[in-house]
Amino acid sequence: MSAEKFHLEAAEALTAWYNSHKRDLPWRLDRDPYHILVSEAMLQQTQVERVKSFYARWMERFPTLTSLASASEDDVLACWQGLGYYSRARNLRRAARLVSGAGLKTLPADEEFLRSLPGLGPYTVGAVCSIAFDLPVPAIDGNVRRVFSRLLDMPDDPARAKGTALIAAHAAAILKLGSPHILTQAFMELGATVCTPGTTCQCGQCPVSRLCAAQAAGTQAQRPVSTRRNVVERRRGAALLILVPHGCAVRRRPAGGLWSRFYEIPWLRGEADESAESCLSRLTAELRLTAPCLDLELEETLKFTCWQVRLHLWSCRMLQPPAGCDAFSADELADFPMPAGLKRLVQKALGESGEKQLELFPPVR
Ligand code: ADE
Repeated sequence: MSAEKFHLEAAEALTAWYNSHKRDLPWRLDRDPYHILVSEAMLQQTQVERVKSFYARWMERFPTLTSLASASEDDVLACWQGLGYYSRARNLRRAARLVSGAGLKTLPADEEFLRSLPGLGPYTVGAVCSIAFDLPVPAIDGNVRRVFSRLLDMPDDPARAKGTALIAAHAAAILKLGSPHILTQAFMELGATVCTPGTTCQCGQCPVSRLCAAQAAGTQAQRPVSTRRNVVERRRGAALLILVPHGCAVRRRPAGGLWSRFYEIPWLRGEADESAESCLSRLTAELRLTAPCLDLELEETLKFTCWQVRLHLWSCRMLQPPAGCDAFSADELADFPMPAGLKRLVQKALGESGEKQLELFPPVR
C-alpha cells in the first residue's frame, strides 16, 4: 500500500472510531488552550482517572491563565499537592506569567512562541497546537509511540531520535488529512484503551488493525522495542517527627534542585545497603539531638524518577524545634507543599488534624 493511501485510510478510520468511542473527559468539554495545557501537564506521569479530580479542583481555583499568573507559587503547589513532579506546576505558573507579561489573556496559536515557554516540550506544544488550535503538529507520548511502532512494525526503539522523527512524519501526514484536534486525541485514545502494552492489546477492537504491520506479522507484543534500561535505585532512610509544644518541627528545602522550597520533616536517605537505624543516628547527629527517639513503626516510600527511599519514622519530644526548623501544627501542614510520602507519614503519625499527638508521648504523672 502506498504511504498516501495508508495515511488517508488511517485518518478516516481513526476519525470515525474516535467520534463513536471517545471517553467523556472533563478537558474534552471545550478546546480552550489553557484547559488543554493544564490537562496535558497533569496527564504526564499520572493516570487519567486520578487526574480528573485534580483537574476539577485546579480549574475551580485557577479558572483562567490570568488567575494562574497572579497566584503565589505556594498556592499553586498546594493545589498540585499529590500529583508529584512539582516542576510541572511551577512551570505552568511561570508560563502563565510569561504569557500574561506579553499582554495576552491566553495561549496564542503560535508554535514557536509556545515552544519558548518553560515546561512546554515538543509533546505539549503538539497537544496544544493540534487539540486547541487544530494545527497539524503531532504530539508524541508513550501511547502514541506504541501505536505507531505497531502500525509500522518498527524494529528500532521508537523513543530514540530516529524513531521519533519517523513517527512525527507519519503522524503529521495523517493529521493533515483530517481534523488535527480529533486525530491527535484518536492516537492518544487508541494507545490508552485498545493498543495497550504487551499482550493486553485488543486488536479485534482496533479501527486500524487492517493497516497494522505488527498485526500482520504477529509482532504486537514485541512492539515497541525498548533499548533503555530503567534502573530505579532503592535505598532505606530515616525520618524524624520532632514534637514540640503546639506542633512538630518542619524545615524548608533550599530554592532550586529537588522539591525546591518545599517543607519537610527532617529525613535522610541512606547510602547503598545502609540500615534505617544507621540513617537515624546520622540524622540525629546532624540535628544535634540528644532526646531519645521512639520507633513509630511507620514507613512510607519517597519516589523520584531514578531512586526510591523507604523511610522509617521515629519521633522525639523537644521544647523547641532544632536549628533550621520551625514549629507548625498538623492542621497548618495539611496545606503546605510537602513531598507526598512525608505528608502521609506525618498524617499517619499525628492524624489528619493532630489528634494522635498526645498518644505518642502521654503526659508523665
Ligand atoms: N493522555 C495524555 N493526553 C491525554 C488526553 N488529552 N486525553 C486522554 N489521555 C491523555
